[in-house]
Amino acid sequence: MRRWLYWTVVGSLALIGAMFAVHRAADVITSPPVTGLSRQDQQSFEQLAILFDLKPGTSEYTHLRDNVVASTGKYYAYRAVTLLHVLPGTLILLMGLAQFSPWVRAHHMAFHRISGRVLLAAIIVAGLSGLFFGLVVPYGGMLESTATAFFGGFMLFAAARAFVLVRRRDIARHREWMIRMFSVAIGIAVMRMLAIVAVLVVKAGPAVVNPRATGLLLWVGWSLSLAVAELWIRRTRGGGLAAISLRGG
Ligand code: HEM
Repeated sequence: MRRWLYWTVVGSLALIGAMFAVHRAADVITSPPVTGLSRQDQQSFEQLAILFDLKPGTSEYTHLRDNVVASTGKYYAYRAVTLLHVLPGTLILLMGLAQFSPWVRAHHMAFHRISGRVLLAAIIVAGLSGLFFGLVVPYGGMLESTATAFFGGFMLFAAARAFVLVRRRDIARHREWMIRMFSVAIGIAVMRMLAIVAVLVVKAGPAVVNPRATGLLLWVGWSLSLAVAELWIRRTRGGGLAAISLRGG
């Protein structure tokens, strides 16, 4: 039951995150030069305006559009960096799921080893390009820069630590650091879910699309994801999935 719940929640979040990333990649590859909004962002903006009941020509409508332009423009100004971020990011989410599968480790250890190395390269590329967005062209100001530096740095550290530990054959702690690394990747989807809850349930309105809210979402989404991962590690340490991991590895 516990494992079923784990795979449903983590699998859904990974797929949601990958879907957003592929969507952004496709738009960046196919869009002509963008001055205001890409076709995809124009559609998202129009849906938001309808949801918030904002009429064209009003100051709220223009303000929301300005915020969407400011938050998405960087992906088209730096298309290569965007692709270097979202494509390895997708790989991390999808391949990460396979890495955690006890069946894959038990039956295809060679695949686990090779894809682990590919994953490590993807983590470095996605992490560094994420740092570029958060530190060089942040939309969410200091809140975004600090969250990106902290959690991006943590993801890179966790992956490096996991790699060192597996080289020492410390499989149990390798598993724990990989869970921490993966929780930062999954955090991308957690933020999206929080934004959807803020819009649909809390009825937060256009306030959700502004620099401060973006920075705050990054902090809350990543913290929540990492906290749940830490709880999961503590609950399963020395038994359950850890035991499976040891047998598989
Ligand atoms: C590993 C899995 C990851 C995936 C799948 C992913 C995906 C994405 C996507 C799709 C976007 C564009 C958002 C949009 O379309 O509106 C984005 C933006 C961004 N990502 Fe990532 N990301 C990942 C990891 C990271 C990490 C580890 C960092 C920290 C270094 C990071 C930092 C950022 C930043 C700062 C932005 C720009 C946010 C903004 O200013 O609005 N990402 N990411």
